[in-house]
Parts: sequence; C-alpha cells; structure tokens
Amino acid sequence: MPTSLLICRHQIFGMKQPCTIGLIGGTGTEGRGIALRLAAAGLELGVGSRLPVRARELASELNEQLKAGRISGTDNATLISQSEIVFLTVPFVHADAVLQEHRERFFAGQILVDVTVPVVFDKGPRLLELAEGSGAEHIRNRIPLHLALVAAFKTLPAHLLAHADSWLDCDEFICSDSVEAKRRVLDLVSRIPRLRWVDAGSLSASRSLEAMTLLAIDINRRHKVQASRFRLVGLP
Ligand SMILES: NC(=O)c1ccc[n+]([C@@H]2O[C@H](COP(=O)([O-])OP(=O)(O)OC[C@H]3O[C@@H](n4cnc5c(N)ncnc54)[C@H](OP(=O)(O)O)[C@@H]3O)[C@@H](O)[C@H]2O)c1
Repeated sequence: MPTSLLICRHQIFGMKQPCTIGLIGGTGTEGRGIALRLAAAGLELGVGSRLPVRARELASELNEQLKAGRISGTDNATLISQSEIVFLTVPFVHADAVLQEHRERFFAGQILVDVTVPVVFDKGPRLLELAEGSGAEHIRNRIPLHLALVAAFKTLPAHLLAHADSWLDCDEFICSDSVEAKRRVLDLVSRIPRLRWVDAGSLSASRSLEAMTLLAIDINRRHKVQASRFRLVGLP
C-alpha cells in the first residue's frame, strides 16, 4: 500500500468539535448506536429521518439517556445541507434511491461515510453480487465526484454500539481513496474509548470489510452470540 495512503496514529488527536456531523436515516439501530457513541464522546450531531418528528423524538430520547443535549433531529434533506460529515445509515437496498433523491444537496468538501453492508437474508445471510465489487464502490459510482467517500462502522454490531455503557473493546476498520477524508473520520472514531481505529487502506478494502460483517453474522448465528467482532493481532 503506498505510504501516502497510510495514516499514523499521531496525526489524529483533536479535541474540539471538528465539524458538523449528521446521520441520514439515523433513526435505525445502526444510526442510533453511532449517534450515541459519538455524542457520549462529547460530539454534537444531528440524526435525520424521512419523518422529522421521528428524528426529534429519537434525539430527545438519546439526550435524556446521555443527560446532555448534544443530539438534534431533523429531516434528511436539511441534515445533508448542514453537515460536513454525513453518515449513510439506511439499508443498503434503499441507498441508491436516498442518494439520488438528495444528489443536488451534497456540497463540495463534504464527506459521506458509508456504513451500509449489502447483505440480504433471503436464503440465509449473503452478500449481494455487485458489479463494483463492494457496496462502498457501488455507492462511489452513484454520488457526485466532489463528495469524498469513506467506508466505516461496517463491522460493528449495532445493538452493541447502542449499549453506550458497554465497552466495544475491538477494532474499527476504515478505508477510503481520500487521505484527508479518512483522517477526519478517523479523528471522530478516535474519540470513542476502547475502540481502536485501523486504517484499512483504499476504498476497495470494503470488499474485505463487508465480507467480515457477513462472517460475524454467521458466527453469531452458529455460536448463538450477538456481538462477535474483530480485533487484529500483530498491529503495534
Ligand atoms: N444492524 C447492524 O448491526 C449493522 C452493522 C453494521 C452496518 N449496518 C448497516 O447500517 C445500515 C442501517 O442498518 P439498520 O439496522 O440501522 O437499518 P434499519 O433500522 O432497517 O434502517 C435504518 C433507517 O433507514 C431509514 N429507511 C428505511 N427504509 C428506508 C427507505 N426506503 N428510504 C429511506 N430511508 C429508509 C429509516 O429511517 P426513517 O424511517 O426515520 O427515515 C430507518 O430508521 C444498513 O445498511 C446496514 O447494512 C448495520
């Protein structure tokens, strides 16, 4: 991997609110978990929904849980126009329609964080066959070129994320073709305690990350557990 794509740990630690953060479809299990963890780490953010009342209700519920008013709720369109870093936390099968609907709202310098995993559960869990090789690369082909894309939070089980009082104690794998966009998302992840971020390289690494999610789903079912996740050995 070209060293220019590798990010070293000392390039990360910022403390103040680095940017405006929003989660499209942040009302689901994954969105709720990510919102809770980032807000618990001191960050302010917005959750978006097709129904703004639903987003506001979730925001007040999570603020209640956190005993801090760091989360706001609004409709996806407003959220996209106000957020420098936008997490895509809708089901993969609906991602194309959501991205097409809001295409004109994405602005230059913005970062889209793809959390989606193209897994379907018809004949048992399986990954969709995508011409681009991964969900993230599929999404890359469907968003404006001026929008930087980072793949993250693909291998962390949502319900564990949502239990803000339980340590994650695992690795979080992040990949992108944009070094700067990846550094800014790593900065956010580095604020979540006992979650070690791992630079997984270029966007095509999503093929491995999405396959790892499928493996974790399979292992959860086989071993009747709920929160199997990954921690790499051999990394300094
Ligand atoms: N669950 C996990 O453990 C996990 C782990 C890693 C990654 N992920 C990924 O995270 C994403 C979200 O997963 P989830 O479990 O949170 O999904 P979810 O609860 O089924 O859906 C998330 C949100 O997406 C919005 N949504 C649903 N259908 C939509 C549609 N047709 N058009 C627009 N928005 C729609 C809904 O928000 P509103 O109705 O409020 O608009 C919903 O609350 C998925 O892509 C999944 O692969 C999940």
